[in-house]
Amino acid sequence: MSSVRNDTLLRALRREPTAYVPVWLMRQAGRYLPEYAALRARAGSFMALATTPSLATEVTLQPLARFPLDAAILFSDILTVPDAMGLGLSFAEGEGPRFARTTADERSIGGLAPPDLERLRYVFDAVAQIKRALAGSVPLIGFAGSPFTLACYMIEGGGSADFASVRKMAYARPDLLDRLVAINADAVAAYLAEQIASGVDAVMLFDTWGGLLPAAEYRRFSLDPMRTILQRLPSHIPTILFTKNGGNALASIVEAGAACVGLDWTVDLRAARRDYGDRVAFQGNLDPLALLTDASTIARVAREVVRAAGPGPGFVFNLGHGIVPATPPAHVAALVEAVHTATAGSPSRSA
Ligand code: CP3
Repeated sequence: MSSVRNDTLLRALRREPTAYVPVWLMRQAGRYLPEYAALRARAGSFMALATTPSLATEVTLQPLARFPLDAAILFSDILTVPDAMGLGLSFAEGEGPRFARTTADERSIGGLAPPDLERLRYVFDAVAQIKRALAGSVPLIGFAGSPFTLACYMIEGGGSADFASVRKMAYARPDLLDRLVAINADAVAAYLAEQIASGVDAVMLFDTWGGLLPAAEYRRFSLDPMRTILQRLPSHIPTILFTKNGGNALASIVEAGAACVGLDWTVDLRAARRDYGDRVAFQGNLDPLALLTDASTIARVAREVVRAAGPGPGFVFNLGHGIVPATPPAHVAALVEAVHTATAGSPSRSA
C-alpha cells in the first residue's frame, strides 16, 4: 500500500478520526479552469488529453496547484471503457460524448466482450505518472462508470435527456440489459483492479443515471452489478459509490459494500449520517450551483453542509455533482478554505 503525507481523505473514507474534514471536488480538473481550456486547445481534443499520459498528468495536477485540495482524481473519462470495447468514442467541442457504434440490440450486445486492458494502457501509464508527480503529497482517486451508466451511453450512442431506449429495454428486454451490464461489470472490475495495481489509493464508481430507474430495476441493473465489482476489488483500497438521485435507495446502497457513499444535494445529509453513519462514510453534498454565488454565501452554505454532517468521523466534503464550467476559480478557493477553517481543530472530530 502506498503511503501519503496528507492521508486525511483515506482516514475519513475508513471512518478514522481526522484533524479536519478533507475536501476534493468532482470535475475539479475541467473547463472552469482557464489553464485546462488552454491545454485542451493545444492538444486538439478531450481524447488527446485523456490518452496522452503526460497531458493527463498535467491536467490532474492543475487544480492542486491552485487549491489545497486533499486528493487528486485521475483525469480521464468513464467512457474510455466502452471505447476500448470498440465503440469509437469522440467528444465534439461544446457537445457531449458520441459513440460511432451503439449496442442496443441482440446482435451488437452478443458481439460485445470486456476489453483487452492493453487498450487502456494509457490510463494505467497516466496513473503511474501522476503518482510519481504527486510524490506522496495527497492520495490519487481512480474511478470508473457504473455498469448501468455505461450501458446508458452505449445503448443511446451518447447523452440523452431521458435515456428512453434504455428504460424501454429494462422493461421489454430485461435479459438483454442483464447481459450488457454483466459484461460491463466484468470490464469495470478488471479495469479498476488494474488502476489499483498501477497505484491509485482509492476508487470511485460513478453511477450518474441509476437514479432514473424504479426501485426494483435500480437494484437489478445498477446496484447489484456494482456490488459484484466491489466484491472483486482488493479490500485494502477504500471505495466510494455515488448514485446520483439515489436518495430513495439509500438503505440498499449503504449495504452494497462500499466504504463511502456519495450523496447528491437533494439528500438529507443529517439524516443519512444519523441512520447509517456507523456503517459507511459519506461524501457530498453541496449543490454545485452554489459555487455561482459569492464568497461569503459559499462559506455560509459550506458550513451548513459541515454542520449537517456533524462532528463524527467518516465525512468527505464534496459537491453533489461536478463543478459547472461557469464556476469562477476564486469561488472554489473560497469553498476549500471555508471547509478547512470551519472544521480544523474540532476536538470531537479528532478525538
Ligand atoms: O472529476 C474529475 O476532475 C476527473 C475527470 C472526469 C471527467 N469525467 C472529465 C471530463 C470524471 C471523473 C468524469 C466522469 C464522467 N464522465 C461521468 C460521471 C460523472 C458525472 O459527471 O455524472 C459521466 C457521466 C461522463 C461522461 C461525459 N464526459 C459527459 C456527459 C461529458 C460532456 C459533458 C460534461 O459533463 O462535461 C464528458 C466530457 C468530460 N469529461 C469533460 C471533462 C473535464 C469535458 C470535456 C471537454 O473538455 O469538453
